[in-house]
Amino acid sequence: MTVTYQPIGIIHTPFKSLEGMPIQPTGAQGASGWIELDAQYQDGLQDLDGFSHLYLLYHFHQASPAKLIVTPFLDKQPHGVFATRAPARPNPIGMSLVELVRVEGCRIDIKHVDMLDGTPLLDIKPYVSEFEAAQNVRTGWVEALSGQVRSQRSDGRFVRKK
Ligand SMILES: C[S@@+](CC[C@H](N)C(=O)[O-])C[C@H]1O[C@@H](n2cnc3c(N)ncnc32)[C@H](O)[C@@H]1O
Repeated sequence: MTVTYQPIGIIHTPFKSLEGMPIQPTGAQGASGWIELDAQYQDGLQDLDGFSHLYLLYHFHQASPAKLIVTPFLDKQPHGVFATRAPARPNPIGMSLVELVRVEGCRIDIKHVDMLDGTPLLDIKPYVSEFEAAQNVRTGWVEALSGQVRSQRSDGRFVRKK
């Protein structure tokens, strides 16, 4: 079976190159971006402004070819791709929880962006803690690297935490 999606818009961010980017929204505090939604989907934004945070699902349009074993940005050890957030995955779909700033027509201003400028947007969903706050969470190999994601960038450099 082949599944084909059309982007619903484009995500604009300050990050023009894959080098030196935040690795996750927690490392992108203060990075502002905006969504340019295709006009045909504007009616779907009704009531979105009641939510403070949004999940964005998007296509990693500059991802390298998929690998099943990857060494993620945060670690020196390889892991199965499905135990990571690495972009080079069989279906290169990214997911980021961002803060909603404002909705104006087809423009949605957002904060804490960790995707490349020009990333094709596949879907927007409101974050509802009541739906998804998990209990007794384990975080596998990431647990040993606690806090590193806030300061590490995609080229391995570290920036000072704010
Ligand atoms: C580790 S991924 C995490 C993205 C998302 N928060 C997730 O968990 O799916 C973030 C990294 O993916 C890379 N990236 C971001 N946007 C991309 C794009 N459009 N195409 C390819 N790689 C991208 C950048 O190197 C960035 O630092």
